[in-house]
Amino acid sequence: MLLETSYLGLRLPHPFVAGASPFGYHLDAVKRLEDAGCAAVVLHSLFEEQIGLAREGRIARMDPTDARFAEMIGYFPARADYPFGPHEYAEHLYRATRAVTIPVIGSINGHTRQSWLTFAPLIEQAGAAALEVNWYEVTTDPRASGMAIEDELVEMVRDLKRIITIPLAIKLSPFFTAFAHVAHQIDDAGAAGLVLFNRFYQPDIDIRTMQVVPRLELSTSAELALRLRWIAILSGRVRASLAITGGVASPEDGIKAILAGADAVQMVSALLHHGPSYVMVMRQALEQWLEWHEMGSLAEARGRLSHRRTQDPAAYERANYIRTLQSWGKSA
Ligand SMILES: Cc1cc2nc3c(=O)[nH]c(=O)nc-3n(C[C@H](O)[C@H](O)[C@H](O)COP(=O)(O)O)c2cc1C
Repeated sequence: MLLETSYLGLRLPHPFVAGASPFGYHLDAVKRLEDAGCAAVVLHSLFEEQIGLAREGRIARMDPTDARFAEMIGYFPARADYPFGPHEYAEHLYRATRAVTIPVIGSINGHTRQSWLTFAPLIEQAGAAALEVNWYEVTTDPRASGMAIEDELVEMVRDLKRIITIPLAIKLSPFFTAFAHVAHQIDDAGAAGLVLFNRFYQPDIDIRTMQVVPRLELSTSAELALRLRWIAILSGRVRASLAITGGVASPEDGIKAILAGADAVQMVSALLHHGPSYVMVMRQALEQWLEWHEMGSLAEARGRLSHRRTQDPAAYERANYIRTLQSWGKSA
């Protein structure tokens, strides 16, 4: 009762949700998330590249051990571990919805209209409680303007809203010039939720082999501040519910996310690191904290330090920059 929250119109007993991750690959792992007390689970994504390969009928003809395809297939986990094609994904999602009673949220990762529109209905039909679309795009074309890219994103949200009835969440990166405006437009286009922020996995350069190499590191609390700031700025300003993702590593981080205004707190690295039972640690700590502060419900804490409600909104703005620089050395 104390921790109840609404996310994407779904009533959840508490805000802690397992974010899109390899936990979704196996039904056993999804069940473990439920047993550990996760309020909902976002399945790993169906990636646009998989959709493309499937549409062209190339997956079926690929042998994962064939060197010619190694590079293409190498981006994905081993096939045996992973529901690869769109129809396999939908079937897997359907099975997950039958295996657990918590809401199962489907996920698509990509940026082209074709992939979203083709496979979103499939995910809806498979029984997903909602769809999360991870808009992962690194635009390298120097002629592509920010405005054109944003317009296309918003248009895609409108199109999706026309063809599915389940709630739609958009997972975004922070790399926009005027992020609040983009969030507003997506909200106006009918998204039920914003998931902030996507982590772009930055490739590294290996100076020994002189190759650009992929690098995946689990997050730490160091990534949280950027998310807190934007959740706080949007809290109370958009209709869409807000989920935080990225850097929620400790119970304190979870409490901060709520104070900033998050309706749901997604976790991946922390669950991979400590195991799914860490959700209970998060939940208990939040409950105790609310009790210490004599708050009767999560709603009393949510957004209390949002940009709109904090006594010091400048702390989220540029003024904080000057103050932060000037504070150097004073605390020592
Ligand atoms: C191993 C791994 C696999 C992931 N797979 C997906 C995925 O399939 N789709 C997606 O949208 N995000 C995926 N993510 C990103 C997470 O959902 C999450 O946004 C990110 O890890 C930040 O949250 P965290 O700090 O709690 O880990 C993945 C992350 C990791 C570490």
